[in-house]
Amino acid sequence: MRHLMNPLDFSVEELDRLFDLANDIENNMPKYAHACAGKKLATCFYEPSTRTRLSFEAAMLNLGGSVLGFSDANSSSAAKGESVSDTIRIISCYADICAMRHPKEGAPMVAAEKSGIPVINAGDGGHQHPTQTLTDLLTIRTLRGHLDHLTIGLCGDLKFGRTVHSLINALSRYEGMRFIFISPDELRIPDYITEMLKEKDIPYEEVISLEEKMPELDILYMTRVQKERFFNEEDYIRLKDFYILDKKKMRWAPADMLVLHPLPRVNEISVDVDDDPRAVYFKQAQYGVYVRMALILTLLNIQV
Ligand code: CP
Repeated sequence: MRHLMNPLDFSVEELDRLFDLANDIENNMPKYAHACAGKKLATCFYEPSTRTRLSFEAAMLNLGGSVLGFSDANSSSAAKGESVSDTIRIISCYADICAMRHPKEGAPMVAAEKSGIPVINAGDGGHQHPTQTLTDLLTIRTLRGHLDHLTIGLCGDLKFGRTVHSLINALSRYEGMRFIFISPDELRIPDYITEMLKEKDIPYEEVISLEEKMPELDILYMTRVQKERFFNEEDYIRLKDFYILDKKKMRWAPADMLVLHPLPRVNEISVDVDDDPRAVYFKQAQYGVYVRMALILTLLNIQV
């Protein structure tokens, strides 16, 4: 039995196979319509979500399976003090696979240790968000044609943004990557990430100006300032609109640069960017369904 806690749980070769499968699903949906008939996915979400929970549920329904679960810790027995370990033992009696989001870092890992079914980390605190990373990698691979030799700018809340941490880890395994971290001082990328890049001899820069670096980018990965991870509301209010990507700023971007965002967005991308063909964040959300379908099939060891 296999779980997914971290994007690095899959080798680069395994990811290639997963993305090939996701692309085949995209092009041949009817072929997969009954692949999970009789199987159940549990979504255990102790934190709010739109995309991750609903795309997991859509993925399982597209595969002909069923879904059950909760979308709020207060509507589960966590509100009465039940531990994650006990909850997953119970869920293992009811479902074949579980996607879990939790505000505490490491909670899905604790669940996996006691689980009788595959557990997928659907986001744990400010730590990791591996299925968002699979979504991001599939989007880049499909729309750019490759995952190596790219300059990727990550902009916004690089301190608390778990999608950023997972994505850098995953991209650091490909040849010829260069990272540009664009953030205010208070939201800089954590040291453990820059240490990892130094150890692997991967070039990176830390800058404050988005406009200055935009002409160099193949990918611009925008992020939301993570209100829910701030201890102090004043700091959040001061930093929340530090970066706003708008039509005017997009003039600095190369013609083939892609703008990704894990969403939800607040103000960091103006709606006037949405019609720009380089803005692919809504397509990215669609790729999230295909890659989660491929992941469910892989973890349940179902061949079609
Ligand atoms: N990208 C993402 O994780 O979105 P949700 O919080 O809506 O699931």
